Amino acid sequence: MDQMKPWLVPCIVIVWLFPASVDHCLNPPPVNYSILVVTTAEERFLVTYICIRGYHLVGKKELFCNKTSLEWDSPAPTCRLGHCPNPVLVNGQLNSSKLEPVSEEEVVTFKCDTDYILKGSNWSQCQKDHTWIPPLPICITGQCKSLKRPKHGHFKARDFNSGSNITFYCDVGYQLIGAQSLQCMDGKWSDEPPICEEISEATTEAPVEAEKESERNNICETVQRLMRCQKERGKTLEELKYSLEIKKLKLEEIKTIMSTEIKTVQVEDRMVASHAIPFHMKIDFSGL
Ligand SMILES: *[C@@H]1O[C@H](CO)[C@@H](O)[C@H](O)[C@H]1NC(C)=O
Ligand SMILES: *[C@@H]1O[C@H](CO)[C@@H](O)[C@H](O)[C@H]1NC(C)=O
Ligand SMILES: *[C@@H]1O[C@H](CO)[C@@H](O)[C@H](O)[C@H]1NC(C)=O
Ligand SMILES: *[C@@H]1O[C@H](CO)[C@@H](O)[C@H](O)[C@H]1NC(C)=O
Ligand SMILES: *[C@@H]1O[C@H](CO)[C@@H](O)[C@H](O)[C@H]1NC(C)=O
Repeated sequence: MDQMKPWLVPCIVIVWLFPASVDHCLNPPPVNYSILVVTTAEERFLVTYICIRGYHLVGKKELFCNKTSLEWDSPAPTCRLGHCPNPVLVNGQLNSSKLEPVSEEEVVTFKCDTDYILKGSNWSQCQKDHTWIPPLPICITGQCKSLKRPKHGHFKARDFNSGSNITFYCDVGYQLIGAQSLQCMDGKWSDEPPICEEISEATTEAPVEAEKESERNNICETVQRLMRCQKERGKTLEELKYSLEIKKLKLEEIKTIMSTEIKTVQVEDRMVASHAIPFHMKIDFSGL
C-alpha cells in the first residue's frame, strides 16, 4: 500500500453544504477522480461533479434529487483521463500526436482535408475549466450540390467546388429567367438556378394589344354613354353639337391659361414648372 502512487488513487471528495435529512435521495453516486458539491436549488438537492486536474467530465455535470421518487434524475457522470476531451476533427487533421491525455493549457491547431472548409478557429487551447477555447471547429464540405441541366438549355462549369462559377445558357427561342451565373461559396450556390422560358410572340405583343383594345373600348363606352345621356335628356343632335362647341371653347380657354402659367412659372423657377401644372384634367361630360 505504501508504494501506491498517490495520484493513481481514485479520489473522491464530498462537500456537504446542507445537513442530511430523512426526505432526501440516497447518497449521491461516487465518481472517481471528482469533487462533489451538494447544494440546494429551487428547494431541491443539487449535486455538482467537478473532475480533478488532468481529468475531464463525460455525462451530466449536475444531478437533481427528485423529491417524489427520492432518486437522482440522471445517472452519474464519469471523469476520464485528459484535462479536456480529446479534440476530434472529422475530415481534417490536428497537429498533435500525443493528444492522449490532453493536459491543461495544451494548444492544438486544425487543418481540413482538401475540398473541406474549416468552420471556426484554426487553433484552440485546453482551459483550466476543462473546456476548449476557442471552441473546437468542424470541417464542412466546400462542394456545392450538383445542378441539373436546365430544360431547353445547358450550363458550363469547371467543377462544383467552393469559388467555382457555373454559367447557364438557353437554347435558341428560349430566354433565361434568373441569374445567368452562380458562384459556389462554402458549399452553397450564390443564387437559385435560372430557368429557360420560351420566347413567344404573344408574351411580348399581348400587353400592347390588350392596352389598345381597352383604350378603344373606353372611347366607345364614353361615346355610347354620351349618346344615351343625350337621348334621355331629349336633346337633338344639333344641340349636342352646340354643347360640344361650348366645351371646346372652354378647353381652349384652359389651354391658354395653362400655357401662360407655364411661362410665368418657368420665369420664376424652372424646377417648379413640372410640379405646378395640373396635368390630370378630366373632360366633364355631365354638363352637356
Ligand atoms: C473507481 O476506481 C476504483 C479503483 O480503481 C475501481 O475499482 C472502480 O470500479 C472505479 N469506479 C468507477 C465507477 O469507475
Ligand atoms: C420525479 O419522479 C416522478 C416519478 O418518477 C416523475 O413523475 C416526475 O416527473 C419527476 N419530477 C421531476 C421534476 O423530474
Ligand atoms: C500545435 O501547433 C501549435 C502552433 O504551432 C503549437 O503551439 C502546439 O504546441 C502544437 N501542439 C502539439 C501538440 O504539437
Ligand atoms: C490560422 O489562421 C490564421 C489566419 O486566420 C493564419 O494566419 C494562421 O497561419 C493559421 N494557423 C495555422 C496553424 O494554420
Ligand atoms: C466567378 O465569378 C465571380 C463574380 O462574377 C468572379 O469574381 C470570380 O473571379 C469568378 N471565379 C472564377 C473561378 O471564374
